[in-house]
Amino acid sequence: MSMSTAKLAIEGGQPAVRSPLPPMYPGGLRIGQEEEEAVLEVIRSKRLFRYYGPTPGPSKVAQLEQEFAACMGAPYSVAVTSGSASLICALVGLGIGPGDEVIVPAYTWIASASAVLAAGGAPILAECDESLTIDPSDIERRITPRTKAVIPVHMRGAPCDMDGVMAVARKHGLKVLEDTAQADGASYRGRRLGSIGDAGAFSFQFNKIITCGEGGMVITGDREVWKRVVMYHDVIGGARNGIPEGEILPGVNFRMTELQGAVMLAQLRKLDTLLADMRRNKALLKATLEDVAARKGIAFRRQNDPAGDAAICLIFYLPEAARANAVAEALQAEGVPAEVMHRPGQSDYHIYPYWTPIMQQRTWHPNGGPWRWHQGEVRYTPDMCPRTLDLLSRAIHIDISPDLSNENIEELAEGLNKVMSAEW
Ligand SMILES: Cc1ncc(COP(=O)(O)O)c(C=O)c1O
Repeated sequence: MSMSTAKLAIEGGQPAVRSPLPPMYPGGLRIGQEEEEAVLEVIRSKRLFRYYGPTPGPSKVAQLEQEFAACMGAPYSVAVTSGSASLICALVGLGIGPGDEVIVPAYTWIASASAVLAAGGAPILAECDESLTIDPSDIERRITPRTKAVIPVHMRGAPCDMDGVMAVARKHGLKVLEDTAQADGASYRGRRLGSIGDAGAFSFQFNKIITCGEGGMVITGDREVWKRVVMYHDVIGGARNGIPEGEILPGVNFRMTELQGAVMLAQLRKLDTLLADMRRNKALLKATLEDVAARKGIAFRRQNDPAGDAAICLIFYLPEAARANAVAEALQAEGVPAEVMHRPGQSDYHIYPYWTPIMQQRTWHPNGGPWRWHQGEVRYTPDMCPRTLDLLSRAIHIDISPDLSNENIEELAEGLNKVMSAEW
């Protein structure tokens, strides 16, 4: 960039980013007439519950389940109240329970690990690699006779190494639950994420790519898993779905409302446009940085399948944490919303040492469960996954909104080029 020699804002120069940037709510900011009309239709019908109400007609939640499953390439789907609910239902559906160990990455939202506890199991931590997703070879190192499943988490929109994960899982007879909360619609080798393992869990909380405020979905290709999820997420889901009385197991209530279903149907129909816009914006921005990154030895986050990335963010590594902090500070002065992904001591529930209730094995009940239901010894220490912490402490993260204007992209590129070209 021609402006790369301009004086840095942190040294008193003019900040590169002058136009306001859109906040990072991809689907949330695109809520419009379609969502409004869908919600009004439900309100006017006074049919807020999927199974009955004063007006007959097709259920929005049932329609969402069908369209979502078709979009993701999975035969079965169950809509639920949140991403956490989708993880818990999927774990129960896969047969995970007390005494079982489930391997989760050291970098994920705490909910991936909490869901294992809610199902009665114990989360076991594994390292992430340069893709900031679970390292398949480290999964293998964490396996014990009690390990029943692994949760690869497609963090920050990018696919895990699913060939590696599936190979280890199949070799050791483990179930695979893909946590796709942050990567709706993204793919790996042409298959949508969530449809590759034994089950996929999605979140529609407001930060996610598509959203109805709170909500979630389980998908699976296995009819037996679907039956268990149906029974667990709805206390009378078994009877409603024709499961014979003698097979029905006790369930709870994680059912989605028709209002959530209506908003999500409209959002789902916007998913591919959102992905196309984020991918375009990321490609434009990244292209302006290739030269300077190569010159300065800056590596971008490794992508297990670049074409499948949802492109919600751009991440690159500096050689060491102190330099990452200095570069992020200089970028912020330019108005670039850059963050170092791990600053030691700064609490963040995405990084395992800060999962305090789990790290300290706190329990809801005096009998100490689920920790005491476990046959083996589970121990957590703040330094047990040093590679993940090192990578995150050197990683700089920038959100890529689908609503960035060309002017936004030019200014971000200018700020990034200025700072990356400087001496640091
Ligand atoms: C990776 C990951 N897993 C699970 C969840 C849980 O989803 P929810 O907040 O909808 O319960 C989230 C998001 O919050 C997430 O980012």
